[in-house]
Amino acid sequence: MEGGSNGGSKRMIIGVPRETHAGERRVALTPAVVGTLSAAHDVRVEAGAGVESGFPDAAYREKGAAAGASRDDVFLADVLLQVRTLGRDDAADLARIREGQVVIGLADPLSAPEAARELAVRGATLFALELLPRITRAQTMDALSSQATVAGYKAVVLAAEHAAKMFPKLTTAAGTLAPVRAFIIGAGVAGLQAIASARRLGAVVEAYDVRPAVKEQVLSLGAKFVELPVEAGDAEDRGGYAKAMDEDFYRRQRELMARVVAASDVVITTAQVPGRRAPVLVTREMVEAMAPGSVVVDLAAGQGGNCEVTRPDETVVLNGATVLGPTNLPASVPHHASQMYARNISSFLQHLLRDAALVIDLEDEITRGTLVARGGRIVHPRVLEALGEPAAEPAAAGEAARAPQATTS
Ligand code: NAI
Repeated sequence: MEGGSNGGSKRMIIGVPRETHAGERRVALTPAVVGTLSAAHDVRVEAGAGVESGFPDAAYREKGAAAGASRDDVFLADVLLQVRTLGRDDAADLARIREGQVVIGLADPLSAPEAARELAVRGATLFALELLPRITRAQTMDALSSQATVAGYKAVVLAAEHAAKMFPKLTTAAGTLAPVRAFIIGAGVAGLQAIASARRLGAVVEAYDVRPAVKEQVLSLGAKFVELPVEAGDAEDRGGYAKAMDEDFYRRQRELMARVVAASDVVITTAQVPGRRAPVLVTREMVEAMAPGSVVVDLAAGQGGNCEVTRPDETVVLNGATVLGPTNLPASVPHHASQMYARNISSFLQHLLRDAALVIDLEDEITRGTLVARGGRIVHPRVLEALGEPAAEPAAAGEAARAPQATTS
């Protein structure tokens, strides 16, 4: 078993610490999924870990977990399940990490690879759920998608709160109100949910994406697909994600979208190219051309922003238009966000388990693709690249098979 054994028993200790990142209100496991895990393992949940998501300690206890544990006890676990793994500022938790301990969570390994390295140095085996390949087999584990769904919904709710207009068309004795015009830039997971949510509130919705393949999905949600006379070419990679375009393309895209942005009351931007800074698609000038009372919600704020004036987690008002750059919307809907995340992470854990023991099978695309650190060092090529370090020797799989605690299959 990777990460040691539980006092001679075959069962592992699974630890769920309270999240400590600023503003984080989610929890990695919910009582519903604890039930399945606690049948075979000792699940320890730190006191109050689920309270902000609406899951009190008692609810975990009912499902067989040792809830109400101290942080030190939780960190004795063989496997730690977290929403966001610890980072540079978590010195106290780093000191609690033990060699061979398995840590699973969102680790931001490409934007903040130093934090992953600190875990590696402590000897932890780190799996980052952001690196999960977007393949059918991994769908139930896809935490980025589940959390982006929450963010797409909440972006619309935020926009509605800040807009000077109501979303639906209303015909009343006091006159007729035109519906809000919403423009969604990027129709991936978050964008599609934003389209659906804005439609439900009654907005007239338009959307654009560089991947022409999404046009049908946009139309099926009742939105109009904005056609831009700019050659996107082969904009999709093998994983179904957008490829980076050159600056000429983005300049042309901005010019062509300016008219649509100016005519919109609400703009929600969700454009991303994985592992890169978000492309700037809405300039200061474009925001200034919007009507007072309009709103831009920039979901890419954490990756530099799709809007030139976005400031992460701040509100910018420009000529009466409001630009919001929330970086952690899932934490603002913690109950449902945790419910989905818990399904994702427990499904990932089940994937690693064989007969209640944790097996790291490097032949498996999901396991290999998410494994960031092991045996005291970073082993993932993209994370090494992000750190500016040379790739590990090609015989990574063989070497892992020689590691003392590893069980390979
Ligand atoms: P996704 O990869 O499913 O969708 C992104 C979409 O943007 C893709 O369809 C892609 O083709 C499109 N795109 C790329 N370049 C574009 C361009 N130049 N013009 C138009 N479309 C373009 O990603 P997902 O999961 O929907 O996430 C979207 C963004 O939301 C990401 O930046 C993600 O980090 C962020 N996010 C933010 C949260 C928050 O609380 N602020 C929470 C969750 C996700």
